[in-house]
Amino acid sequence: MSDTRHPLAVLGGEPIYPPGPPDWPITDSEIEQVFQELIKTGDWGRYHGPHCDRLREAIRDYHDCQFAHLCASGTAAVELALRAVGVKSDDEVIMSAYDFKANFTNIVLLDAVPVLIDLRTDDWQLDADQLEAALSEKTKAIIVSHLHGGLVDMNRVRSICEPRGIAIIEDICQLEGARIQGTIAGMGGDIGVMSFGGSKLLSAGRGGALITDNDLLQQRITLHTARGNDVSPLSEMQAAVLLPQLNKLDERTRIRKSSADKLFDALQNSEGLIPLRSPYPDSSPGYYKVGFQYDPTTFGGLSRDRFSEAMIAEGFAVHPGFRSLHKIHSKKRYRTMTELTEADRADDNILVLHHPILLSEADWQSAFMRAVDKIKQFSDDLISDHQ
Ligand SMILES: Cc1ncc(COP(=O)(O)O)c(C=O)c1O
Repeated sequence: MSDTRHPLAVLGGEPIYPPGPPDWPITDSEIEQVFQELIKTGDWGRYHGPHCDRLREAIRDYHDCQFAHLCASGTAAVELALRAVGVKSDDEVIMSAYDFKANFTNIVLLDAVPVLIDLRTDDWQLDADQLEAALSEKTKAIIVSHLHGGLVDMNRVRSICEPRGIAIIEDICQLEGARIQGTIAGMGGDIGVMSFGGSKLLSAGRGGALITDNDLLQQRITLHTARGNDVSPLSEMQAAVLLPQLNKLDERTRIRKSSADKLFDALQNSEGLIPLRSPYPDSSPGYYKVGFQYDPTTFGGLSRDRFSEAMIAEGFAVHPGFRSLHKIHSKKRYRTMTELTEADRADDNILVLHHPILLSEADWQSAFMRAVDKIKQFSDDLISDHQ
């Protein structure tokens, strides 16, 4: 009997990559050992112990910096960074119009004003060339997030901000372990922000950290958090599971990069999915997500969201990215000087591949390309099925 099922998995057919992405977080023998030790020592249930101290020291060593502060999340870390650099009511904080929503919210909650600047055309990262035009006498700080495998031109950001005393908060929640123009990610500005959320490259379910060489910023963070009790703590249990992951970060960053490069090579012969890749020398990205510019016209007009559903059904965690901030917030909340043309495009057509598959040793890149080609071939069926 012939198989009458549709070739596309989303329309009832066989997925191209049934294994799907590997599990995340990874429970390897070292993580198992950590949990056994936590039970043996009782550290899992204590306020204080050796693990947070060890993690702080390891983060300092890793980034070659003076100060590491552990906290409850990347979101909390961004708020602490804004407070530490002294953002107050009515100040302006520059950021990309495409960024993690909480970065915007954190600014607004301090009664300050986000100033949104547009993205670079090629890699959809904050366009540092538009920074100067966004300055005003109220500009206090900039939040720079490197997103989805792309990098922001930190040399340019520093050349504009440093002479004017504008604080640079570098959000590395998506690329701990990366290098940007010769500097380890997180140390390119005044203060770096990390996340240890459950899907992140360093996972503890929740958690975050701040890194800096600046004494004053360190003191202000302590002032905000140490209230007899720590208002935004990371637990001993979380710190304990992060340590072995930090030790493996370089090795995993290398594997993820070579895996992503293999995908980029394969995509060179295809149209419609352009990876976000930044051009800076002496740099090596990190991949919490691999971002793409999706072009519906090469898929017969298939929408980005329907393409994503079809890829997920084939076994690949390819999702729409963030919403651009000017699309989800009232104009009263932010200031901008230009049309946000690229952020409009990103809002419509950005796609992100989640990182766990990058550690897989299988030849998933060929399967990925077969899935893309199959969707291209049957895009009419996907469109008519959705009408
Ligand atoms: C760029 C960026 N900044 C900040 C955060 C916040 O991190 P958390 O989830 O730990 O609050 C995230 C989380 O996804 C992020 O992607």
